[in-house]
Amino acid sequence: MAMNSGGPDASGKDVRSEVRRIWNRNSAFWDSKMGEGNAFHRVLLLPALERLMDITPGARVLDVACGNGQLSRWMAQRGAQVIAIDISEKQIEAARSRGNSGEGKIDYRVVDASDQEALAGLGNRNFDVVVCNMAMMDMPEIEPLAGALPHLLKQGGRFVFSVTHPCFNMSDMRRTATESEEGGALIETYGIEIRRYLTPRTGLGFAMLGQPEPQLYFERPLSALVGPFLAKGLVLNALEEPSFTVSEHSGAKWYGWENFPDIPPLIVVRLLKL
Ligand SMILES: C[S@@+](CC[C@H](N)C(=O)[O-])C[C@H]1O[C@@H](n2cnc3c(N)ncnc32)[C@H](O)[C@@H]1O
Repeated sequence: MAMNSGGPDASGKDVRSEVRRIWNRNSAFWDSKMGEGNAFHRVLLLPALERLMDITPGARVLDVACGNGQLSRWMAQRGAQVIAIDISEKQIEAARSRGNSGEGKIDYRVVDASDQEALAGLGNRNFDVVVCNMAMMDMPEIEPLAGALPHLLKQGGRFVFSVTHPCFNMSDMRRTATESEEGGALIETYGIEIRRYLTPRTGLGFAMLGQPEPQLYFERPLSALVGPFLAKGLVLNALEEPSFTVSEHSGAKWYGWENFPDIPPLIVVRLLKL
């Protein structure tokens, strides 16, 4: 994630309209780059999501902030019955236009996940899984989603989310590279510098280099990210921190995440409704 400071206040209708406008504008670019899943998704996210979501044929799933629907289609291929929502009409159009070769059905809808009433209208304690993949850092408010989950999930149902790692992959993090000679060998060392963590921050940044317009990010520390869900009675049940190794993702620039195998760029979290 690369980001500039500033940007609008993190709450309110204007911010949500701006989030929608920007994702509508970036949608065609996003769809062309993401396709059926980029390296981040295939290598880092999917194995962790597969373990934590544990999709079985017939599972009822709500995919929140589905983007171009790549994860919805993956789940439908495993027989899931998916309702997939996004705030951006263009993302939903792109998702629909890609079709569905899976056995499960996908019902795409334009819904703002910060509208708790609209979320609650999507189901009544009938979802096995609610997933929000790489989107909560794009959402100005996550409390409405947390508030809707006890109503949406079955008893024992799972809420699985992934985000850019709040401790390591934030806007004003700096990547560093040093070179030294030690014992006759040339040593390259890659690291990151962190200057801020606890203060939530809103700003503009890029999910993918070359996108038409920077998007809004809403960075939160772990306590603010998980806290709203714990406050609604969900229980933290699993957490994964995947990272790249060189062999999995080669050919990128020096600051590509494959040069930082000991620093996870993402977290994937599962909470349960008990
Ligand atoms: C980084 S994309 C991730 C898309 C998808 N989950 C995936 O993994 O490919 C973030 C998505 O969040 C959506 N989004 C942002 N705020 C939202 C909100 N309040 N309600 C629903 N979708 C939202 C954007 O339109 C965008 O499609």
